[in-house]
Amino acid sequence: MNSLKDSIKSLASEYLQEVTDIRRHLHRHPELSFKEFETAKFIAEKLTEYGIPFQDKVARTGIVALIKGKDPENKVVALRADMDALPIKEKSDTDYCSVNEGVMHACGHDAHIASLLGAAKILNDIRDQFSGTVKLIFQPSEEYYPGGAKVMIEEGVLENPKPDAIFGQHVFPELDAGKIGMRPGKYMASTDEVYITVKGKGGHAAIPDKIIDPVLIASHIVVALQQIVSRKSSPVMPTVVSFGKISSEGKTNIIPDEVKLEGIIRTFSESWRKEIKEQIINISCGLAESMGGSCEINIEQGYPAVVNDDDLTERAWNYATEYLGHDQVEKLEMRMTAEDFSYFAQKVPGCFYRLGTRNEIKGITANLHAATFDIDESSLENGMGIMAWFAVCELNMK
Ligand code: NI
Repeated sequence: MNSLKDSIKSLASEYLQEVTDIRRHLHRHPELSFKEFETAKFIAEKLTEYGIPFQDKVARTGIVALIKGKDPENKVVALRADMDALPIKEKSDTDYCSVNEGVMHACGHDAHIASLLGAAKILNDIRDQFSGTVKLIFQPSEEYYPGGAKVMIEEGVLENPKPDAIFGQHVFPELDAGKIGMRPGKYMASTDEVYITVKGKGGHAAIPDKIIDPVLIASHIVVALQQIVSRKSSPVMPTVVSFGKISSEGKTNIIPDEVKLEGIIRTFSESWRKEIKEQIINISCGLAESMGGSCEINIEQGYPAVVNDDDLTERAWNYATEYLGHDQVEKLEMRMTAEDFSYFAQKVPGCFYRLGTRNEIKGITANLHAATFDIDESSLENGMGIMAWFAVCELNMK
């Protein structure tokens, strides 16, 4: 397969300028979750230009395309890119800075789309050299619940034809451009949101014996719920319970009737995730009751954990080292952030891997979701090349 690898590499190098221009266009024109209308139009135009048939308006703004190689029924590999931007005001002096005030591609989804379009162009060029079909999935709304992946699956994106494997790529500012990283098995956490309303009986803060103080109850609850992490969770099961917001209508001398707590749960096992929710209800309600108050709890279900298929990820590791060299592929740590690629990986063997986009010399080091986030655009060459290479290797695998 040496010559095929060389063809992909040389096409990726040839298309780098075009893919960079695509990324910059998308970066200038970011759109929020499920509102990626112009983005979808732009992707459709490119696919039309490349002569790749597609279906649009999947999950509102998503696009699904097929590139058929020799013997298209043989096997199907899906490649996924997410499309949405974030409600962040970009701080950048580049000429591709966002022109949509308050909206920014701060999670690199512009680079994901550009890479997938580049991979599509390459794969379409070499479609007589692989056996099977590549399914391109441009997914809306990764950033907000319920997430575009779930909606696309409900609308049948994993049927007709059903992929045998799916790859998702995400930029990674902690990894140098030129490298990629991956991890078999559990990689990214499940996420849920917790809303607790603690109810007491308000009154004058100087007459505490005549009231039921929800501020005190809420304070105990925040502390007590940490025992889920420190005493209920197995030491080998990473778990986070965090509260980012406590609010009430009280004042220095007024105890309010109620206090609201808002937080998140992150972990990696579905059964433990369910148990955490029960623990939160039991501990919070038990505590509130013991202090004369009560609790209302609402837990909004977010994304499941991203669990990469062990075999597929091992093969991807080998494909990657063959394409980039051994020292350019890194094994990643588990992360407590979340990704709705998990829904795809629950249905089909999946591999969600990271594209290095950091360049300290160029000063490109900002974190994802930061107003100064950017990528080293030279990484787009690997971004498109690796996607195309993974697809071809899987399809041509004996
Ligand atoms: Ni992202």
